[in-house]
Amino acid sequence: MNDIPFSRAQAYEASDDVGRNTSTNPTIGDIINARFNRRSALKGMLGVAAISTTVSPLALIAANRAHAEAASAFSFKEVAAGVDEKHHVAEGYNADVLIRWGDPVFADSPEFDPMKQTAEAQKKQFGYNCDYTGYLPIEGSNERGLLVVNHEYTNEELIFPGISKIVEGKVETTEPDANRVAIEMAAHGGSVIEVKKADGKWAVVRDGKMNRRITAETEMTVSGPAAGNDRMKTSYDSSGTKVRGMVNNCAGGLTPWGTWLTCEENFHGYFTGKLAEGHAEAANHKRYGTPGGSYDWGKFHDRFDVSKDPNEANRFGWVVEIDPFDPNSVPKKRTAMGRFKHEGAANIINSDGRLVVYQGDDERFEYVYRFVTEKPVNTSDAKANADLLDAGTLSVAKYSDDGTGVWLPLVFGQGPLTAENGFKSQADVLIETRRAADLLGATKMDRPEGTDVNPKTHKAYVMLTNNTKRKPEQVDKANPRPESAFGHVIEMAPANNDHAGEKFTWEVLVKCGDPSVAEVGASFSSATTKDGWFGMPDGVHIDADGRLWVGTDGMGPKATGRTDGLYAVDTEGPARGTSKLFFRCPVGAELCGPETTPDLASFFVGVQHPADEGPDFKGFERPSIFEDPSTRWPDFKDGMPPRPSVVVITKQGGGKIGA
Ligand code: FEO
Ligand code: CA
Ligand code: CA
Repeated sequence: MNDIPFSRAQAYEASDDVGRNTSTNPTIGDIINARFNRRSALKGMLGVAAISTTVSPLALIAANRAHAEAASAFSFKEVAAGVDEKHHVAEGYNADVLIRWGDPVFADSPEFDPMKQTAEAQKKQFGYNCDYTGYLPIEGSNERGLLVVNHEYTNEELIFPGISKIVEGKVETTEPDANRVAIEMAAHGGSVIEVKKADGKWAVVRDGKMNRRITAETEMTVSGPAAGNDRMKTSYDSSGTKVRGMVNNCAGGLTPWGTWLTCEENFHGYFTGKLAEGHAEAANHKRYGTPGGSYDWGKFHDRFDVSKDPNEANRFGWVVEIDPFDPNSVPKKRTAMGRFKHEGAANIINSDGRLVVYQGDDERFEYVYRFVTEKPVNTSDAKANADLLDAGTLSVAKYSDDGTGVWLPLVFGQGPLTAENGFKSQADVLIETRRAADLLGATKMDRPEGTDVNPKTHKAYVMLTNNTKRKPEQVDKANPRPESAFGHVIEMAPANNDHAGEKFTWEVLVKCGDPSVAEVGASFSSATTKDGWFGMPDGVHIDADGRLWVGTDGMGPKATGRTDGLYAVDTEGPARGTSKLFFRCPVGAELCGPETTPDLASFFVGVQHPADEGPDFKGFERPSIFEDPSTRWPDFKDGMPPRPSVVVITKQGGGKIGA
């Protein structure tokens, strides 16, 4: 029997919480301690709160609520925070389900029948747990485009009938058979769907010529410096350049040339087995937690068993680039961008024309990265950028207590990244990105999730979701609270607006959590209401007007009594640090993949794993299984399980969202 601690989502949270960074890189707590007296830092949160009020720019914001409200970039009436089985959006808006797990992606797709699901059907239907969502206009349209959607992972206890029971408050599922694993693999990956707005309503174009499903078995190529390296070769691919599938694709990004960057996060969970004693990959796999054993695919596919194919895990944990406008294009794993538990790939064209991609590695005490292409983007010929992401420099961030920071390049032969430390080439540096970053002395962060960059102000934002294992003596200004249950948001500004430069400055935009509880030490502006504060920032989107939207993941488990949602956060002027709740998820769901059309009239969001975190909410005190979920959102039909879905939000009567 598989023992899932409440749910898959919580298992992932527990996994992200492990923290596999055993490097001795200092947190900058030592420096803070030297500056502010070690004992006050050790006192914990109240001590840290005292430090914050000394140095935080937020403390400089006038506590004038009316002033802040008047200056806000958002004018919608906020949703009341809380929990129930449904989704809720701000008054005056419509929030319609656009596509659900199991919905047809092609004209000939079978209709969804959860009692008789097959892998063949799932391959032609929308996958599970939609995360990143990107909108690519067709012929510049705001009402017709391609939606690219990641399918991060599967919740077996909610997908399959008759396999689960609750024993002592925990879900137990039966051992999977080959058929179940085949369905799981087909429900992973991503979808490309043409979407169109007609008569005021968005709908999927089932016969869209670019419609496509990518799964955990889709043929892909490996490109960049690690392609063809011996450590990338397996029993079924002696070239080290061909991979089947992508897994755990969480956040992502779109490139200026119209491709989709879909990023592999918790790849370690798909591997089982035990490496042979003294195997050369032992330390590498351990640094990433491989094998994680969340799935039993290794029983049916040798490549997921590290004892049989020890290099297969090196072929996961990458950014995958897909051309959604060519349904026959082969997805490419871009190894130059590093191997870790990727969140997003937000990017901007730098003043010198090169593309700069901001990336997070989501696990406790892991790092924030940046990739800069070697060559500039060709803005007049999209195809000329086909392999732009194969050459460039990956760097990792080091934050200093004085509000400055530097990017440390991960380049073979430079500094400690030499044969002496076991690196024989740039391929080794990239396959073992985390170890290379350890050696450079990067700053250990509180689980970097989504990133995005504001093209107007040039500021980049990093969602640090939480880290309850940070000890008081490990607190630093960039990770300012010990045992941080609610996380924070960091704002980074490149020196001289040069995103490819070595230096940046940074500030904490908000420390999250309930501002009315002093011990939490939250720092939203005083204009933030009891409904507007949030915790666990995760998904992020900066829209064409430069407005910041934050999606949350996991507020339920902290007994907040509120589901996850989408929050509008002011970043400029007197309203800076003000947050308002715009959309609320049904019980147990996470808010993923916020995305707007260029005209800001439509807002797409992913509602992932509805029902999954039910036990954390009053009135829903039970783990959810297929037969008894805490919500049957969005269908609310007997026998129909909850279905992860993309929701599209529009303003009644039209107009810009949130304004
Ligand atoms: Fe898949 Fe770190 O969120
Ligand atoms: Ca995420
Ligand atoms: Ca998360």
